[in-house]
Amino acid sequence: MKTRFLRDLEVSALGLGCMGMSSAYGPAADRGEMIRLIRHAHEGGITLFDTAEAYGPFANEDLVGEALQPIRDRVVIATKFGFDIDLRTGARTGGTNSRPDHIRQVADAALKRLRTDRIDLFYQHRVDPAVPIEDVAGVVKELIAAGKVKHFGLSEAGVATIRRAHAVQPVTAVQSEYSLFWRGPEVELLPALEELNIGFVPFSPLGAGFLTGKIDETTTFDPTDFRNAVPRFSPAARKANRALVDVIQRVANARSGTPAQVALAWLLAQKPWIVPIPGTTKLHRLEENLGSVDLVLTPAELDRIRIEAARIQIQGERLPEAALKMTGR
Ligand SMILES: NC(=O)c1ccc[n+]([C@@H]2O[C@H](COP(=O)([O-])OP(=O)(O)OC[C@H]3O[C@@H](n4cnc5c(N)ncnc54)[C@H](OP(=O)(O)O)[C@@H]3O)[C@@H](O)[C@H]2O)c1
Repeated sequence: MKTRFLRDLEVSALGLGCMGMSSAYGPAADRGEMIRLIRHAHEGGITLFDTAEAYGPFANEDLVGEALQPIRDRVVIATKFGFDIDLRTGARTGGTNSRPDHIRQVADAALKRLRTDRIDLFYQHRVDPAVPIEDVAGVVKELIAAGKVKHFGLSEAGVATIRRAHAVQPVTAVQSEYSLFWRGPEVELLPALEELNIGFVPFSPLGAGFLTGKIDETTTFDPTDFRNAVPRFSPAARKANRALVDVIQRVANARSGTPAQVALAWLLAQKPWIVPIPGTTKLHRLEENLGSVDLVLTPAELDRIRIEAARIQIQGERLPEAALKMTGR
């Protein structure tokens, strides 16, 4: 497996997003199977595993902790704090909470669930407008000094916030949505990260599954699947947005690859400091996604995608309105 650097943190070129194993895409998958999948991912060369307090809440960190315990020293565990979640019950208000004391408590609880003595990469999940980012960076700095955390990250933060945080505690990685389905980061975020030497971890790199070509307007999601509430996944939007999948499919056909592989290869081709974290609950898809690392797109293929994708107007917002308001702050 090729490796990449998020600032000074070396990880596999592709990470594994673990969220969907416990939440967001319907009922949790079978725990034993997911433990096998995570360990299989490591055997396939993956060293970066992405989870969060909020996934479950708690269940996903617990799962990832159990799966990685035997190979703890050979992997990089990334998790996140910052939503307002009751530490005892898991009840959530839907808001943010990055108050210093809360961050400290979340770190200790995450360490327990992850069955480890350090969190390799600790992201603030969403910026909390009630707490100055300097205070958040200061607490993470303190946790780093105590050895409980190794690296600081931010998720869906605005560029001004990233700069302020970075001045207090260098930021190793920013994690935000990025794929051919959502290219917002190209405007301001990627140039700023390049300037500051901060790595980038695109989440939903397969467009929450859409770019794989396995979803169309007739697909039905489980009632608890968050895509039911995403404007971009309304049946009408899915029908219109298939034009983008067709672009990817044509390149995949020419390379005897799959749309998922081309969607990931396109991200890997954007910058050498980009590390996508596709999520799956299926072994054969994990294998398929791993194949993207060796599918290096040519300049002609990248040009073709650029030109053909530019003709398509994606329909529908990428998140429900309330969730969108929490991004870019
Ligand atoms: N920081 C944040 O706020 C944030 C937000 C969202 C996600 N994330 C992180 O990013 C990770 C990835 O994002 P994501 O899970 O939202 O989206 P994604 O990786 O773009 O897509 C995941 C979806 O695609 C399907 N899939 C995966 N590989 C496939 C393939 N080869 N062919 C067909 N379908 C495939 C999966 O279904 P199956 O399981 O059925 O394969 C799943 O429904 C998450 O696990 C999480 O760790 C972070």
